[in-house]
Amino acid sequence: MKIGIVLALFSIIIFACGAGGPEGPANYNNDEAKKLFKRYCSTCHGIDGKMGLNGAKDLALSTLNYDQRVILISNGKGAMNGFKGMISDEEIAQLAKYSLNFKNPE
Ligand code: HEC
Repeated sequence: MKIGIVLALFSIIIFACGAGGPEGPANYNNDEAKKLFKRYCSTCHGIDGKMGLNGAKDLALSTLNYDQRVILISNGKGAMNGFKGMISDEEIAQLAKYSLNFKNPE
């Protein structure tokens, strides 16, 4: 398990420093990420991120940045299970980026 966490942190560093800019994977694909979100996340968060089933947070109100989302999606929090090992790090990165779409403009 420890190695998994180290690898997760390592990939975050790689993603954070990647050519795709400060936030998100370089090969980000919004359509693919949307499909992944529908499949894995909408059961609690809803397609629009606002459903909030099982105490899930309204994603429009989340202030977490990209890196924090990668960690949260990997490891889970409260009633939200971690997705590490269930889906690939690549998919987690795509989903972290996608979930930023729901954020209210500041
Ligand atoms: C089993 C229901 C469930 C599923 C499935 C689920 N979540 Fe969550 N999510 C939650 C709950 C509950 C919280 C609040 C956790 C807490 O703060 O205790 C949460 C919190 C979050 C947050 C943090 C919001 C904040 O500001 O604290 C993000 C981002 C998030 N989820 C994204 C996702 C993504 C992306 C997926 C799909 C990979 C997903 N969630 C799948 C239930 C779920």
